[in-house]
Amino acid sequence: MAIPNHPRITKVGPVLLLGAGGMLGTALVAALEARGEEYRALTRGELDITNSKEAAATITDLAKADGRVVINAAAYTDVEGAEDAEAEVFRVNAQAPGMLAAAARKSGLRFVHISTDFVFDGTKSEPYVEDDRPNPLSAYGRTKLAGERAVLEAAPDALMVRTSWVYGPGGMNFPRKILQSAIEGNELRVVADEVGSPTYTPDLAQGILQLLTGDARGVFHLANQGSCSRFEMAQAVVEAAGLSAPVAPVTADTFSSKARRPANSVLSCEKARRLGVELPPWRDSLREYVRRVMREESLV
Ligand SMILES: NC(=O)c1ccc[n+]([C@@H]2O[C@H](COP(=O)([O-])OP(=O)(O)OC[C@H]3O[C@@H](n4cnc5c(N)ncnc54)[C@H](OP(=O)(O)O)[C@@H]3O)[C@@H](O)[C@H]2O)c1
Repeated sequence: MAIPNHPRITKVGPVLLLGAGGMLGTALVAALEARGEEYRALTRGELDITNSKEAAATITDLAKADGRVVINAAAYTDVEGAEDAEAEVFRVNAQAPGMLAAAARKSGLRFVHISTDFVFDGTKSEPYVEDDRPNPLSAYGRTKLAGERAVLEAAPDALMVRTSWVYGPGGMNFPRKILQSAIEGNELRVVADEVGSPTYTPDLAQGILQLLTGDARGVFHLANQGSCSRFEMAQAVVEAAGLSAPVAPVTADTFSSKARRPANSVLSCEKARRLGVELPPWRDSLREYVRRVMREESLV
């Protein structure tokens, strides 16, 4: 992929990856490895991003070792849990990323941060574009929006990738739960009035590195192509697994939930597509994931 008016950069690293133990972190490690990049990947156990002294020292060390990029894949991602712990979540999702971005900029390093569809309120009837006005409905969304602002204030040339409905190896996620439940023969009742863009972490990791290779800066939406409701996504999981568990559509208000979620959080990824970065259709990636889980975990 070559971005017009930018020299082609073949390597993005050396890279410092924070939050390496999460779903996206796991996929980024695999993608960096596959590209033969130089990188240092730290899990939460190895570096807590709220430890500003240690984080700043780690970034300075990267700069001394001719490093080029800091990628922050760390975040507090429990949307329900965030409702009861907003101040603590703010430290992880907003304060720490702002500090990391400032430290990276001070050392002359690129900074990459990941944000979410949950910065939007879901009232738009079309897919959300990067310039749409954020209006988060939840504590998680508020802290992530504060993180976007803190990062872009500290490092205006940062790459900010908003993504949505993330799943992949290395963590529990919606399709994994649906698969488990379908295998156990449970009755599946799934929300049909929330629409979004599912995103498979290996595709997302690839897309982020492609944007970096092209020296993209600013806010980009990145998700698998297309959109669906949670109900349609669950049906696709069951189908990909070759199971026959019935899936019933229900409305979001069927389940009690502390956090409010956007009814529509489909992301328009046109801006990234114009730069030649486009993730595969969501059904293809979901099928690949389900088959991978079943194979690797000998589920059936
Ligand atoms: N999951 C989604 O549906 C979704 C949707 C849109 C955007 N995103 C964004 O995508 C990015 C990647 O999330 P993900 O899906 O990979 O979530 P994830 O699997 O929950 O990974 C997040 C990682 O961050 C780590 N972490 C939490 N607090 C930390 C701290 N103080 N210092 C260092 N590491 C810390 C977590 O460690 P522990 O597990 O030990 O806590 C975990 O390994 C995040 O920015 C998230 O907001 C996610």
